[in-house]
Amino acid sequence: MIDRAALHEWRVIGAARPALPLLLTAGRLATPLRKVPKLGWVVADPVTARAILNDPAHFNLLGEGGVGHMWSQLLGDWVNEVFDGPGHHSLRSRTRDLFTEESATRLAERVVGPRLAEAGADLTAGRTVDVADLARVLVGRIVADLLHLRTPGTDAAYREIFATGEELATLAMNASTSTHLAPSALARGREIVARLTVNVPDAFRTAPPTTVLGRCRELGVEQLHAEGLSTLLMVAGTETAASAMARIVALLHDSGTQHRVLDDQDLIPEAVREGLRVTTPAAAIGRSVTADVTVAGRRLRAGERVLILTHAANNRAGGFSLDRGYLPEQRQLWFGAGRHLCLGAPLARAEIGGMLRMLTGPGRPWSIRGRRYRRRVLIPSYESLPVTLAPARLPALSGT
Ligand code: HEM
Repeated sequence: MIDRAALHEWRVIGAARPALPLLLTAGRLATPLRKVPKLGWVVADPVTARAILNDPAHFNLLGEGGVGHMWSQLLGDWVNEVFDGPGHHSLRSRTRDLFTEESATRLAERVVGPRLAEAGADLTAGRTVDVADLARVLVGRIVADLLHLRTPGTDAAYREIFATGEELATLAMNASTSTHLAPSALARGREIVARLTVNVPDAFRTAPPTTVLGRCRELGVEQLHAEGLSTLLMVAGTETAASAMARIVALLHDSGTQHRVLDDQDLIPEAVREGLRVTTPAAAIGRSVTADVTVAGRRLRAGERVLILTHAANNRAGGFSLDRGYLPEQRQLWFGAGRHLCLGAPLARAEIGGMLRMLTGPGRPWSIRGRRYRRRVLIPSYESLPVTLAPARLPALSGT
């Protein structure tokens, strides 16, 4: 039988980057790890992947092949200190509680709750809602809130913020072969960063501690670092979160499991976790080898690169299933591991959970009215995913 959920997922991935399905499928053979021309060491085994991500003495993300290498060119040399140097530990210790499950839920409810309620009312009234577009608007709202951007408050304004964040992330598009930015990309990237963070210095000084920047100040984060962190939050949490929201809505529909969540909303956290495992929006993570090391019996030399195929590693366990439960090998590899484990994970979960609660709230199944995949993007995603709810059942007439 054709696994419709898996089929659509492969189409989403292939539209983003035509070579990616091949890399992820062939990459499954890279266990525990294999050397591939042009790519370096490729890893698709979750345990080996975690061992590398947990070994900062031999791997970092500042050298050629890691995202830090790109960010240091865009944001300045201080990134080398704060992104993976000694300052990273201090920044992460200070920001450990920046997003707890509770504060992230509060943030999501405040910032995207009203827009989700509007979408829920549209669906209940029989109107179509494009959840892929809605996801981009919601993420745009979060970014505007984190960066204290002043907006007219329209969906169009938030779509534009999303698109700008996405453009910045797309500069990393070539990161699988080289993280050296061309001068034109560097100039454009700096211009975007300056535009999006224009209010950050002011907000850092004056914003109340209920905001993320105000909280950074209270936690003793330096202003320069808070500015850089804002950019990272925006880039790391833009396409990834929007991708996950729409793809998990599609997965629940295509696998038929939406009915179980409709019957029992307590399954939403499980749907979020399992959906993140299967979609793994950040399909690969790059590292460079900083000192010779032996991993799983293979000798890796300083200066070589490692490409961790997180998508392949997470999907070794099988397709989407609400009965899968916690997988100790994968843990939450979709958010990375070790010192760079996703800082915004609780916020991402709150955003996806909010979307699923909105859809399942009325207790009626949703149908997908058409779908388009995003083409040539860094993070595989839906361009559009219009959904409608089944009509409400009329109450049975008594006495007939
Ligand atoms: C479903 C959504 C998301 C996914 C799948 C995801 C995935 C990841 C992964 C895999 C990493 C590790 C990268 C590496 O080790 O090289 C990471 C790091 C990071 N993420 Fe997320 N992310 C998501 C949402 C967010 C959100 C919403 C935010 C904040 C608003 C965020 C902020 C960050 C930051 C700041 C880092 C860098 C942490 C560090 O280097 O110490 N992410 N994310």
